[in-house]
Amino acid sequence: MLSITTLRCNRADTPLAVGPEPPRFSWRLASETRGITQARYRVAVATRPELLGPTGAGPDVWDSGEVASTAQSQGYQGPALTSRAVLYWRVDVVSGSGESARSAVARCEVGLLQPADWEAAWVTLPRPTDRHDDFRPAPHLRRSFVLPEQPARARLHVTAAGVYESFVNGQRVGVDQLSPGWTDFARRVHYQTYDVTALLQAGENVIGAVLGDGWFSGRMGPGAQRDYYGTFPSLLAQLEVTGPDGIVTRIVSDETWRGSFGALLASDLMSGEVVDARRDLGRWLEPGYADEAWPAATRTEGPTGELLGQPCTPVRVVEERPALERHEVIPGTYIYDLGQNMVGRVRIRLAGAPGTIIRLRYGEMLNPDGSLYTENLRQARCTDTYICAGGRTETWEQRFTFHGFRYVELTGCGDPPAPADLVGVVLSSAVETTGEFDCSDPLLRQLQRNIVWGQRGNFLEIPTDCPQRDERLGWTGDIQTFVGTACFNADVEAFLGKWLVDLVDAQSPEGAFPDIAPLPPHQFRDFLAKGAPAWGDAGAIVPWALYRWYGDRDILQAMFEPAAAWVDYLEKANPDHLWTANRGNDFGDWLSLGATTPKEVVATAFYSWSARLVGLMAAELGRDDQAQAYGALADRVAAAFQAAYVDGDGRILGDTQTGYVLALRFGLLTEVQHQAAVRHLVAALAASDDHLSTGFVGVAHLLPALTDGGHLDLAYQLVCTDTFPSWGYSIRQGATTMWERWDGWTESTGFQDAAMNSFNHYAFGSVGEWLYAVVGGLRCHPEVAGWEHIVVEPRPGGGLTWAQCRYVSTRGPVSCHWERAGLELKVDIEIPPGSVADIVLPCPPGGRITEGGVAVEEVSLDGASGRFRIGSGRYQFLVADR
Ligand code: BGC
Repeated sequence: MLSITTLRCNRADTPLAVGPEPPRFSWRLASETRGITQARYRVAVATRPELLGPTGAGPDVWDSGEVASTAQSQGYQGPALTSRAVLYWRVDVVSGSGESARSAVARCEVGLLQPADWEAAWVTLPRPTDRHDDFRPAPHLRRSFVLPEQPARARLHVTAAGVYESFVNGQRVGVDQLSPGWTDFARRVHYQTYDVTALLQAGENVIGAVLGDGWFSGRMGPGAQRDYYGTFPSLLAQLEVTGPDGIVTRIVSDETWRGSFGALLASDLMSGEVVDARRDLGRWLEPGYADEAWPAATRTEGPTGELLGQPCTPVRVVEERPALERHEVIPGTYIYDLGQNMVGRVRIRLAGAPGTIIRLRYGEMLNPDGSLYTENLRQARCTDTYICAGGRTETWEQRFTFHGFRYVELTGCGDPPAPADLVGVVLSSAVETTGEFDCSDPLLRQLQRNIVWGQRGNFLEIPTDCPQRDERLGWTGDIQTFVGTACFNADVEAFLGKWLVDLVDAQSPEGAFPDIAPLPPHQFRDFLAKGAPAWGDAGAIVPWALYRWYGDRDILQAMFEPAAAWVDYLEKANPDHLWTANRGNDFGDWLSLGATTPKEVVATAFYSWSARLVGLMAAELGRDDQAQAYGALADRVAAAFQAAYVDGDGRILGDTQTGYVLALRFGLLTEVQHQAAVRHLVAALAASDDHLSTGFVGVAHLLPALTDGGHLDLAYQLVCTDTFPSWGYSIRQGATTMWERWDGWTESTGFQDAAMNSFNHYAFGSVGEWLYAVVGGLRCHPEVAGWEHIVVEPRPGGGLTWAQCRYVSTRGPVSCHWERAGLELKVDIEIPPGSVADIVLPCPPGGRITEGGVAVEEVSLDGASGRFRIGSGRYQFLVADR
C-alpha cells in the first residue's frame, strides 16, 4: 500500500519560525510494492488541522491544485505569510499506477517577520572594566512574572549577540548549543523559537538566560583576537503567552529584568571557561528567588543585522563518550584518553576542598614523553578552570566553549576522577546522519570513520577548517573540496544553505568570493576578501553540489546571480581567459607534496569549471541565453588552458598529479589530450612510487579521474595502502580523524611544524565520495538531480570481498550491498519509491544476471558489465560468471 512519510517543511519536522521566504514542503513515499512512481501531487495548507481532515471543509490558505510532477517537494505559493501564523499542511499523491495516498497533517509556524513584531529590547549587564582583561563574567539575567492560569500556548523567541542558554522555571529551553551561532551580525542575526507551553504554570514564573561571548565578542581566527562584532554579549527575548481566553501576554527583555554575575567568570570559544563554583547563584532560575538586590538589566543597542528565524539545525550534543584510560604522566598531572579525536567539551564529576583549583587542558596528540601536545593550538588557550565549592561531589560541564581533542590533561585534583567520570560531550551541526559505508577492508572502514568524525567536528555552526587551534574559520577552499562527501554523510542542505548566505554576505562589490565566510570585520576583511582560485570557486561548486544532492532549485535561484558575478569578476580581470590577474591569496594546491602544480594551472582550471557550473545553473533555471554564454566562456577558458599549458604530447605544465586530475575532471582537454593526460597521470604516480602527492585541491579528484580513465586498480591501490604518503598512513599511526597534512606526524620526522599541524581537517577526507560512489556504487544520475534517477554501479576491487553502502536521500534510502561468493557476486539493492535506477553490474562474457532465480530481462551486455533499469523496491541480484 502506498503511504506518505517524512513530512518536512524547510527540511525540518515542525519549524516554528518560517518566513519571510516562502516555506518548502517535502515528503517521501513508502510502499512494499516495486516500481512506484509519483504521477501527481497536491499540497493543501490550512489554518486548522480539521479543515484538512477526511470530512473537513478543505484548505483555507492555499491549495497547489493537482500538479503532474515527479517532484517530492513544493514551495508555498499562497498569500503573503503573516507573523505568528500557524499553518497546517498535507499532501495527496497519485502514483504512476493510479494508487492514491493522503499524508497525515503536519504543522509549521511563521516567525516574527516585521521589526515591529519585536517589543523586546537588547539587554545586558555591564561587566566590570577595572579587572584583568580576561575577567569576562557571564551575565545572568532573569525576570519573574505571574500568570493567572496555565497558558494554552507559549512561544519564546530568543537570541543573543554572543551565545546564550535560556531557561523557564529552572528548565533549560530546548537542546540547542552555542545559539545563535555565527553570522555577520551586522547583516543578520538568527533567532530561535521554542514551544515553552509545558514549562509555564499558573502563579509565579521565571524566565532567565546566561550569556557568553561566542563568535560575537569572543576570540576567533589567527592570533585569537576578539571583539569582532562587539565588546560584550547581550540578549533579546520575547515570550508570548496565550491564555485559555485567547489573551496574549508578552514578557520581553527590557530593564524590568534583573542581572547578576555568577560562577561563570569567563567563557570563550577558544580560551575556555573559568568557573568558581563558590559563586554559584543557587536557585536563581526558579520562582521565589530573592533578586531584589540584583541591579536592573541595561538596554544596549544590539547588533544591527536583520532578525531572521534560524534557518538550519543548530549545534547539538550528538554523542557522549567516557574516557577509556587515565595515566599520571608526572606526579599530579593526569592524562585521560577518550580514544577518539572529537570536538566539544567534557562533563566531569569531581570532589575537592572548597577553593581547590582544577585545570583541564586539551590536546589531539601526546608528545613522545606522554605529555599533552598543545603546540599546534597556537594562540588558542583551550584551558578550562574550575574552583570547587567543596563539601560534595560536584559535576561540571562547560557551556560556551569547545575544544578539538582526544586527550584531556587534569591537574589540581588530589583525588582524580575515574575515567568513567570524565565524559567527552560531542557537539556538531551535522545532526542527521544520512550515509553509511562499510566494507571488508578494516583500513577503509577506519578511513570512513575518520572522515565522518572530521565532518562532525568541523561542521559546527559553519564548515570550519579545524576545531582546535586559533583558526576555526569557514575556509571556502576546504568545503568546496569536501562538499560531495559531506552531502553523503549527513543532511547538510540547510546547514550549507545557511553558510552560502554567509558567503554571499561576504562577497565583495566587485564579485569576489572571499577565502573565508563569514568574513569578520577588522584585519581579516581586506586580507581575505579578494578571492583565490579553488577557494572563491566554492560560491559556484557548493550550490551546484547542493542542487545535485537535494534537487531543490531554490538554491540555484539564490546563488545564480552571486556565482555569475564571481565568474564575471574573473572574466573582467582576465580577458585572455587565463586566470592570471586577481588571484588573491593564491593558495595553489595547498599542502601537496613533491612537485608543485603551477598556480596558473590550478587557477585557470577552476575558472573554466566555475563558468561551466554557472552555465549549468542557468540551464536548470531556464535562462537559456546565460546557459549558452557561460558554457561558451567555459569552452574558451578550456581552449586557452590547452594553448597555454598543454604541450604537443598532452603533458600539462608542471607534470603533476593535480594538474592532470583537474584537467581530466573539469573537461579541459581535447579527446586526444584526454587520453594522453590519463597516461601522464599514471606515469606521474609511478614516478612517486605509486603514491599520491595531491594537496587540498587535487585530492578529491584523484581517484575519480583514475577510475574514469580506466585505472580502477590503481585507485584501489592508492586508497588501500598504508605506506607514506597515503590516507592509510595516518591510520597506521592511530589517527581517528583526518589530518591536515599527509606528514602531520611521521616515524622519521616526528611532528610537522606546529604552526600548522591540525589533526582534524576534513579536506583529505574528500575521498569519501569515491568510497560511496565507486566502492559502494551509489550515485545520482548526471542529468537528473536529487536522486530521482539513480545509478547503482558497484566496482569491486582492491581485494575487498564485500561492501555495504546506504544513503538516505530526500526520497528515502538508497542502498547497495555486494558480496563475492566464489564465482558469484551477490548484490542487494534498495531504491526508494518515486525513483528509478540504472544498474550496472560487472558481468564477464558469458555471465548471467538473475534476480530470485529468474534471468533479468533487457540487460545490455558490453563484455565487461550488464546494464539494466529497475524501479523502486528491494532486489537481490546474482551475477554468475557463467
Ligand atoms: C587553513 C586551511 C585553509 C588555508 C588556506 C589554513 O590555515 O587551516 O584549511 O584553507 O589556511 O590556505
